[in-house]
Amino acid sequence: MAILKILQYPDERLHKIAKAVPEITQDIHLLVKNMAETMYHASGIGLAATQVDVHQRVIVIDISDTYDQLNVFINPEIIAKTGDAEFREGCLSLPGIFDKVKRAELVIVRALNLQGEYFETQAEGLLAVCIQHEIDHLEGKVFVEYLSRLKQSRIQTKLKKRQYLTKSSVLSMNG
Ligand code: NI
Repeated sequence: MAILKILQYPDERLHKIAKAVPEITQDIHLLVKNMAETMYHASGIGLAATQVDVHQRVIVIDISDTYDQLNVFINPEIIAKTGDAEFREGCLSLPGIFDKVKRAELVIVRALNLQGEYFETQAEGLLAVCIQHEIDHLEGKVFVEYLSRLKQSRIQTKLKKRQYLTKSSVLSMNG
């Protein structure tokens, strides 16, 4: 198993649209294992393959406190949704950035499992929000793109400043 590198916003590759997985191969099993390990290592509750620069429709989610209830969705599709939920969201591709996003409160998802069988699951609350956030990644969409232009430009400024600080601290370390 391995910890994969997570793409950081505004990396253009986060806007690629993922392709459906045609067959559950050993490579897909390995990808899921590595994605789960990467998500746990980064203390996240969800990760989409897009975020590790693999543009296939695979997401992993674990919203349990004990980190032992891994949900794997391959080729996930939301087949029904209802209600409104607003959660303060964050993303492993934008560490330190959190904001409220409006989404459906309840979703029914159809996906393949690692055995290549279709299953349907109904999710609500945090799990429903997380599924919608991760499926968005597969469509090339990052949650901050739901925010107002003003908020988005503030986030850009914050990220640029952070990049500058990282660079300058490297320079001073080099003496
Ligand atoms: Ni995310």
